[in-house]
Amino acid sequence: MNKPLVAIVMGSSSDWDVMQQAARQLKDFGIAFEARVISAHRSPDLLFDFIKDMTAQGVQCFIAGAGGAAHLAGVVASKTMLPVLGVPIPSKYLKGMDSLLSIVQMPKGIPVATFAIGEAGAANAGLFAVSMLALKDGQLADRLNKFRKQQADAIASTTLPPLS
Ligand code: RP5
Repeated sequence: MNKPLVAIVMGSSSDWDVMQQAARQLKDFGIAFEARVISAHRSPDLLFDFIKDMTAQGVQCFIAGAGGAAHLAGVVASKTMLPVLGVPIPSKYLKGMDSLLSIVQMPKGIPVATFAIGEAGAANAGLFAVSMLALKDGQLADRLNKFRKQQADAIASTTLPPLS
């Protein structure tokens, strides 16, 4: 088994529906990752151990998804100098605006890169991790280039249906 290059962490198993979009992108690009449910407020000691363990194993970044008063990504960033990509999970009452503002409004000094609310944000966090890893991996950069070209080709060949 390859050592993980990316660590995905989420505050609850209810986040997995969204966060698996990040995992999907990594898997499609052949990047080894570790995905775990660990809460910053329900299991902080476990979180700190996980960050230490993942760092020792050589991960290059963390992707953290959480909803509500979403402090998980910020807490991860407080314990590592590796890049932390934060994914706001849609919440029941505030539709993820609470998660987004909690993650994006990090005070100066400890940055978290914040993505869109929900599936698109999770997928883009995965793709962003691919971009970072591609800086030092030419073959991965080629695959990313091909992926981008496929999207461009799909747009170029799109035709609209006739007027109804
Ligand atoms: C956060 O609370 C989690 O990240 C999740 O998005 C939210 C709700 O968690 P559950 O009540 O579904 O466990 O900590």
